[in-house]
Parts: sequence; C-alpha cells; structure tokens
Amino acid sequence: MQQGVRITELFSEEEEYLGKTVKVQGWVRTKRDSKAGISFIELNDGSCLRNLQIIAEHEESDYREVLDKLTTGSSIGVEGKVSPSPGKGQSIELHATKIEPYGWADPATYPLQKKRHSFEFLRQIAHLRSRTNTMGAVTRVRNRLSYAIHQFFQERGFHYIQTPIITASDCEGAGDIFRVTTLNPTNIKPGESENIYEQDFFGRPTYLTVSGQLQAEIYALSLGKVYTFGPTFRAENSNTSRHLAEFWMVEPEMAFYDLQDNLQLAEAFTKTIIAMCLEDCAEDMDFFARFMQPSLRENLEQIVNSSFEIVTYTEAIDLLKKSTEAFTFPVEWGSDLQAEHERYLTEKVFQKPASIIDFPRAIKPFYMRVNDDTKTVAAMDVLMPGIGEIIGGSQREERLDVLLEQMQLKGISVEDYRWYVELREFGTAPHSGFGLGFERLVQFITGLGNIREAIPFPRTPGHADF
Ligand code: 4AD
Ligand code: MG
Repeated sequence: MQQGVRITELFSEEEEYLGKTVKVQGWVRTKRDSKAGISFIELNDGSCLRNLQIIAEHEESDYREVLDKLTTGSSIGVEGKVSPSPGKGQSIELHATKIEPYGWADPATYPLQKKRHSFEFLRQIAHLRSRTNTMGAVTRVRNRLSYAIHQFFQERGFHYIQTPIITASDCEGAGDIFRVTTLNPTNIKPGESENIYEQDFFGRPTYLTVSGQLQAEIYALSLGKVYTFGPTFRAENSNTSRHLAEFWMVEPEMAFYDLQDNLQLAEAFTKTIIAMCLEDCAEDMDFFARFMQPSLRENLEQIVNSSFEIVTYTEAIDLLKKSTEAFTFPVEWGSDLQAEHERYLTEKVFQKPASIIDFPRAIKPFYMRVNDDTKTVAAMDVLMPGIGEIIGGSQREERLDVLLEQMQLKGISVEDYRWYVELREFGTAPHSGFGLGFERLVQFITGLGNIREAIPFPRTPGHADF
C-alpha cells in the first residue's frame, strides 16, 4: 500500500510541500458542506494535534458519492495539491483530487461526535478515546517522555535492564500484591492447603512485581549504573485520582551513590525530561495549557529553572504542626505523610518541588539505609505541586549486620531473601536509587485531573476492560 505523508510533516515542512501533490491518510474529525458545492474536511492522522483541512469540490470530482457518505470517524486516504490556505487557523490546506474511503462510521452509532465528552465517558470507550484531541496529545507527550527517559540515562552511561514481572519477593512489604497462580481456586480441596504451593506453577507463592528495585540492585552492584522502566502492579484498593493498579515505573539504581547523589540525580532527571517535553511537544503542551491549566507552561518552566527544596521529615513535621491548615489526618512524628500534607508542603510552604528526606525507620521498607540516629533512614520522597509524591527512593542498606537487624525487625525471612543478603556478603558497596511513577509524571506535565487519562488502558479496582 502506498503510504501517505504524515500531517505533522506537511505542517513542519510547509515551504517544501506547497504546490506539490501528496497523499494523506487519517480519520475524519468533521465534514462541513458549503452551499457553493465545496466540502471542508478536517482530517487527523494522530501525528500531531492539528487537523489538515481538505477542500473537496463536488463539481469536478469523481468522489461525489464518497463525500456524501463521509462522516465523523470515517477513515480515508486523500490525494491532492498542497495549497496556501486563506482560512483562519491554518496556513496550508489540501485540494483533493482523489478520495479513497477505507472505513465508514455510522453517525447513528459512532460514539465520538463533535462535542466535548466527559473523561468518565471516554474511559468506557478506551478503544476509541485515543482519537480525541486530549488522548492524542497525552499519547504523544507520553511517547516523548519515554524516549526522554532513555535518552537521559543512556547519555549518562546507565544500562537499561529488564527486571522480572513475576517475582517471589515483595519489595515494598506493603502487602498490596497481586498473586500469580495457575491453581484453580474452585479445585482446591480443604485440607490440602499446607502444601498448596507445591502444586502451583512455580512451586512457591509468586506475585506481580511492585517494583524492579531489588533486582536492579543486583545489576547496580555489577554494572555500576542501571535503570529499569517497566510495568509494576499494586492491589491497593485506593480509588483516587493518582493511583493505578498497573502503572509504569522508572527505577535507576547506582553503585557508589549516597543519598545526596541520589537527590541530585532525581532533580536533574526530572528537570531534563520536562524540558525535553516542553521543547518537543510545544503544540500539545499549549493545548493542555488551554484546556487544563492556563499557567501550565510557566509552572513547568519555573520547575526546570528552580532548584528543589530539601528538608528532613522531622523539619516537615514541624512545618505541618505550625500550620493553621485543617488537615484530615493528624500530624505526628512517626506517621506517614498523607497526600494533603505533601501538597501543603510543596504548594503552600515551598511553592516548588520539595524532597523530603530521612523518614522514620518504622514506616519505610527494610532495604533503606539506617541513619546514625538509628531512628531514621536515608529515604527521599520528591513532591510536586499539584500532585504530591512523584518519586520515592533511598540509599540502600549495604552493611550486612544492619540489614539483618532491619530484616528481623520487619519480620522478613533471611531464607527467602538469601540472594539479597549475599550481595552484602560479597563485595558490598554503598548504593542508591529511586522510582519515578511514570503516570504521575504524565499527569503532572499535562495538568490532567485524573491519572486514568495518563495511561492508555487504566486498571483500577473493578476496571480491567480492554
Ligand atoms: O515510593 P514507591 O513505593 O517506591 C518504590 O517502589 C521503590 N522500590 C522505588 C525505588 O527506590 N526504586 O513508588 C515509587 C513511585 C511513587 O513515588 C509514585 O510516583 C509511583 O511510584 N506510584 C504509583 N503510581 C501510580 N499508582 C500507584 N498505585 C502508585 N504507587 C506508587
Ligand atoms: Mg513512596
């Protein structure tokens, strides 16, 4: 099949294409017929936000019949001459000489009509919502960010590694894990339960990973600097605007990095990829500014140009206690920061991104390095205005004796994590890393109100369609 030119290319190389005959292929957004016997078709091919205007003259054409049947959602190929456009809002248009229909879309049943649809409605038609301006723009931004992530790490000598999706370890120890099994629950007879896992596929309990960190540590302690970028799964029953049951995480892990190095990397990383996106997705970002948050671009530019605040958890608790804000959750040294606390700190107190470090040992996972005060660990959470936590990370406990003590305190079986312990027995080294929630980043950058629009097919409690 002869491929057409992508519409984004026509717009970016206008001068070159003017006067030439080209073919484009895409989906009809709208068609308007004028009394003068001309149809104006807005064609979108997903390559950019903008539609290409097609001018189709009824008189001198053999596509008359096709035109009559063309409606919003139809898919067509158009051949024609690229011409200067007298109309507002576009500099070029295509004067059609040939229109080839690929597929119709019955206006009586096609759910996407030329009006604003709610995000809730669009989620129910996730097979069609990528044809909307918003989802098209999110998808291009998401794509650019993915690429930016690889660029950032590749240019700094990191190795991209693939960590397993199915695992026997629960990295975060939070218990929100999806079980992986081939056992049929209806076939399990009572009384057999003692050795039930022996009958299972892996011969032991297994789960969908909540983080690739523990395996990334293995590779950091051999290749020095590595990163993973893959799907992670959490069965948290939290129906919030920033939680998904399946989300993507970017996890760098570096040998010979302490918490300070880790903080610096997280800041440089966040700023660089935001800057790349602002630069290369200008049109889509302007769209989000127009429809989601008027000050989006300025806010993001400010983040790129400012330095992140760094405060300890203890300082953060003091700030929260001093505030007159009416929080729903109590503020007490030793309890975890809630979204409302995070947002208050970054939005009201600092008015910029803030990294909270040195959290109480009791509320953080076993692998975090214990500080000299023995009460806190070398943890870091990066908070963003409008969204709260976007990155969680730490320096890892590299001392064998302290790690074993931590595992005992937290009730983690040394037997199960033998390999993790051995990394501290053989050539242990200081190392650090963090995890960035990719959808939270996409949500933050686009100004979208709900994380379910930041991923093509959101999985949340009760929702696993498509
Ligand atoms: O803070 P978390 O739990 O950190 C870890 O999993 C570490 N093992 C990462 C590491 O050090 N390599 O999760 C990291 C980030 C959070 O800051 C948040 O942005 C995102 O993952 N996240 C979620 N995003 C969407 N839906 C959820 N249910 C999420 N849970 C965490
Ligand atoms: Mg966290």
